[in-house]
Amino acid sequence: MKILIGVTGGIAAYKSLELVRLFIKAQHEVQVVMTDGAKEFIQPLSFQALSGKPVRDGVFNTEQEAGMGHIELARWADLIVIAPATAETIAKLRMGRADNLLTTICLATNKPIMLAPAMNSVMWKNEATIENIEVLTQREMIVLQPASGEQACGEVGEGRMLEAQAIFDLAIEFLIDHTELKKYWQGKKLLITAGPTFEDIDPVRFIANKSSGKMGFAIAEVAASVGAEVTLITGPVSLNTPLKVIRKNVHTATQMFEEIKKQYLDADYFISAAAVADYRVDNPQKHKIKKMAKQENLTIELVKTPDIVAWVASKKQQHNLKVIGFAAETQQLLEYAKQKLVNKNLDMICANLVGEGKGFEQQQNQLTLISQSAIKELNLSSKKQQAFEILNYIAKEKI
Ligand code: PMT
Repeated sequence: MKILIGVTGGIAAYKSLELVRLFIKAQHEVQVVMTDGAKEFIQPLSFQALSGKPVRDGVFNTEQEAGMGHIELARWADLIVIAPATAETIAKLRMGRADNLLTTICLATNKPIMLAPAMNSVMWKNEATIENIEVLTQREMIVLQPASGEQACGEVGEGRMLEAQAIFDLAIEFLIDHTELKKYWQGKKLLITAGPTFEDIDPVRFIANKSSGKMGFAIAEVAASVGAEVTLITGPVSLNTPLKVIRKNVHTATQMFEEIKKQYLDADYFISAAAVADYRVDNPQKHKIKKMAKQENLTIELVKTPDIVAWVASKKQQHNLKVIGFAAETQQLLEYAKQKLVNKNLDMICANLVGEGKGFEQQQNQLTLISQSAIKELNLSSKKQQAFEILNYIAKEKI
């Protein structure tokens, strides 16, 4: 693998020499990029001797930066590890600054970025740093928790950079998960639903729910990025179609069901993340319902919609198809989710606590994955990270 190690200006920079050595020993290719601050602590020559490549450091150095060097490096790396990541570099990344080669590469890349923060404990606990880390985490950067203990400045507390071996182990774990994921999902066909359904009352009114589609779209995006062939059937949402994903727009639960009936025979996996209406209006009016001067109440008759995921699951044996559902609950999450797993005959269910600002519409989510034989509670993280974890779990547990 190609590892770009960014070294910024902190005393912990000396530990990055060991980090480079560990990657090289494990037969990875390493390119070190240093900031000016880093060079105050360590000589570039030390990194060159260990990595076998001259350190890169200048955006405007024409000799080093053959024209568009930052773009070339941004594309070259499989993983970027910034160790140490100072408070200043973290703030710059949050702002999207591009004032040195390293920050420019980070802005120009779509490769995973891992940060090993190192700073004084008061700086680490400063609200500005906390906010910066939160934003970077939401943008999918992997921020490693620094260690606690005695610091170079004499303070005792959190903020010490992790030891090189720990950073190396976490980076390798991350890379393995990603390559394993690719191996498993390459060429597999996924049918995914997302978003709400809109059930018309009349031509201008409808019954809907708060689903934004973000969860289902995140699964589609990650699945496509690890090589799966993805068809995404979505209710009305305002999200862009992820790269390499085939998208079908539907409006109602009935339309979603019709589209699924056309597509499911082709799929290896069906993942039902859509918040499908359980009931639709029995008899939607052709014209706008008028407000009656003397009528205080209006009754709308609702009828059950087909349970799409249960219907697909009833066909799975004949077609060698795996079916994964979601359970959005405001109470007794695990109990209700397990009931749905059994009643709908699913292979796995993602239990999702919703309401009071959780689940629906949010950037982040916290799912519990329940299969027939195991259960795994995920930590709160971005919907994209949850999507990674779902696909990883399916691959590892052979669901
Ligand atoms: O879209 P976001 O804003 O990102 O929010 C994400 C989410 C909260 C919508 C998502 O994570 C989620 O939990 N989706 C399932 C919502 C839901 O309808 O849950 P449910 O417990 O009511 O349904 C159980 C399962 O049956 C679901 O897989 C659902 O897709 C499916 N279902 C439900 C009704 C129906 N008629 N047909 C179905 O297939």
